Amino acid sequence: MTHTLTLRRPDDWHLHLRDGAMLRAVLPATAAHFARAIIMPNLVPPVVTASDARAYRDRILGALPENADFTPLMTLYLTENTDPEDVAAARAEGLIHAVKLYPAGATTNSASGVSNIDRVRPVLEKMAEIGLPLCVHGEVTDPDIDIFDREAVFIERVLDPIRRATPGLRVVMEHITTRDAVDYARAQDETLAATITTHHLVINRNHILAGGIRPHYYCLPVAKRETHRQALRAAATSGEARFFLGTDSAPHTDANKLQPCGCAGCFTAPNTLSILAQVFEEEDALNQLEAFISRNGPAFYGLPVNDDTVTLEKTGAHYAAHLDTDEGPVTIFDPGFPLDWAVRA
Ligand code: DOR
Ligand code: ZN
Repeated sequence: MTHTLTLRRPDDWHLHLRDGAMLRAVLPATAAHFARAIIMPNLVPPVVTASDARAYRDRILGALPENADFTPLMTLYLTENTDPEDVAAARAEGLIHAVKLYPAGATTNSASGVSNIDRVRPVLEKMAEIGLPLCVHGEVTDPDIDIFDREAVFIERVLDPIRRATPGLRVVMEHITTRDAVDYARAQDETLAATITTHHLVINRNHILAGGIRPHYYCLPVAKRETHRQALRAAATSGEARFFLGTDSAPHTDANKLQPCGCAGCFTAPNTLSILAQVFEEEDALNQLEAFISRNGPAFYGLPVNDDTVTLEKTGAHYAAHLDTDEGPVTIFDPGFPLDWAVRA
């Protein structure tokens, strides 16, 4: 008998869809499996105002395959010039579901991010007042801080002070990569949540650097040592409401990955569900998969769980190595092991 698993349809609480030809190429992979996704605003130029977000949402909807049932949940890119009233109006019309904080210079297209947190206090206070979550790329950019320590230092120097100064602000620690972040999240109240990517459950820093450099495993925050991966696996499979899936699926063409200064990002949208089913099965936690991919995220964002379902079958799954786009091939994340669970079409 085929082993099957039917779960509420999942959502992706952190996704890069890009724009133009790349958007058209990558969107079908997400829309095939996920009902909704929090859409990252780090385009060039970034999605800063409500009117930028409205236009981007319309481009996403226009790029959807026919008959697709997918809702993009828009976000605004926080800058030191963001107008709290524009944010509040975008929230009131139901357009945006979060604001994204990129420390200036932390990652891809983050140059317009925040250098001085004091300059965005009025926005953060307005967000706390209206219950709008702040999604945080949690890494300091100080060149004196080792890249493997940037998340832990951010928690201490930036995140915790922001939360203390703005009581009630709902915060998502995005794509956490360390035991420190897991421990911090667990010690907070229900205003704090954390997303975990698929790839950080699979790779540690050896996968990137040992036995040759593997640019397709390079992302930000960079994968850490094995003990941290184990802490992330324990958190993701715990069923605790504060942890949920944000894939951070971040497509870059191979040409942009494979160069002397290659781009950060793993493209996991096509095979994420198959990989996660395997990870949860390995952890003897398939019964917690639905909480992680389908239930905990909507609960934090104050949205209903999806009505429809997705079915996984243990028949073996095969994914192409690349997705072809008009900009060139994009490598699909290779988990490094054969996949047992296929998503029923
Ligand atoms: O690896 C990453 N890629 N991390 C980010 O924070 C941004 C993302 C991207 O946009 O490519
Ligand atoms: Zn991201």
